[in-house]
Amino acid sequence: MGEEQVEYYKQRYQRLEDLPGVGPATASKLREIGFKTVESLATAAVGELVEAGISEATAERIIEAARRSIAITFVRGDELVKLRSSVRHLTTGCSSLDNLLGGGIETQSITEFYGEFGTGKSQICQQLCVTVQLPYERGGLEGGALYIDTENTFRPERIMQIAPHFNLDPKEALKRIIFAEAYTSSHQMMLLENADEVIKENNIKLIIIDSLTSHFRSEYIGREMLASRQQQLNKHLHKLIRLARAFNAAAVITNQVMAQPDVFFLKGVQPVGGHIIGHTSHTRVYLRKGKENIRIARLIVSPFLPEGEAPIRITERGIESGEEA
Ligand code: GTP
Ligand code: MG
Repeated sequence: MGEEQVEYYKQRYQRLEDLPGVGPATASKLREIGFKTVESLATAAVGELVEAGISEATAERIIEAARRSIAITFVRGDELVKLRSSVRHLTTGCSSLDNLLGGGIETQSITEFYGEFGTGKSQICQQLCVTVQLPYERGGLEGGALYIDTENTFRPERIMQIAPHFNLDPKEALKRIIFAEAYTSSHQMMLLENADEVIKENNIKLIIIDSLTSHFRSEYIGREMLASRQQQLNKHLHKLIRLARAFNAAAVITNQVMAQPDVFFLKGVQPVGGHIIGHTSHTRVYLRKGKENIRIARLIVSPFLPEGEAPIRITERGIESGEEA
């Protein structure tokens, strides 16, 4: 489908009620189960709509129509395949990290930063909230950021400090960041389930969950809880990836891991979410401490990129490329 056609359907299907087969009753059912925008319906499954009391035929019709309004094509009718041409890269504002990532953070997939406390995960997230606002030619996505904060680490002052280094007005930059604090894991999930309208209205191009795992870790304790924790995390990440695809946005998650003092490099350092996150997030960056304000970023898995390392430095200006002393 060409860009013009996509644009045509985008104009035609602006609200749920514009979709064929969606009257006020169906629209309100859809909103109730978290589909408030046409974009989010494009990545919905027929079963989800049927569960909400919509007939299978109608569900198929609705999803089919919604898909036309976004640049996503499907193979075999069931498998969602991203149009590589529509994937963009968001600069981290740090050249060594961008190089490591093959040009920046990809839209339509999840990038995970994991590492010990104080390794710069939240700092990177806050810098991305600024760079996402930059014009395309400067590596931005010309959009806003949604920051789901579980540890109360987001600092507006930090944004105001970083923004001028990217030639952005600090106050304007803050206006384009939508902040939400998640108090529990279920609150965190609910925030994301209901995020599609906020994403659309604010032209959000970056969705951050910092940290993805802290609430889950403190609430689901013990072996017997492991399965349900992984199930919930999986559901949460699934929602995230679908939003990223529907809105051609970048998705960034953080995950704190404990390093054992005598451990040689990665042995023994296991991301909290375990395998589920590993399979769902497409790019994983492990951060470890170097000397002083130096951090080493290591690319762990990526479908496209070779593994490698990049030194970064945390300064008053934000995250910068750094050489290890
Ligand atoms: P956890 O969330 O605890 O797992 O850690 P994190 O990986 O999110 O760490 P965070 O991104 O909060 O990094 C904290 C590091 O950034 C500390 O070493 C701080 O000293 C440093 N930092 C934060 N703000 C500034 C700043 O304004 N200037 C400088 N130079 N360093 C800063
Ligand atoms: Mg943090």
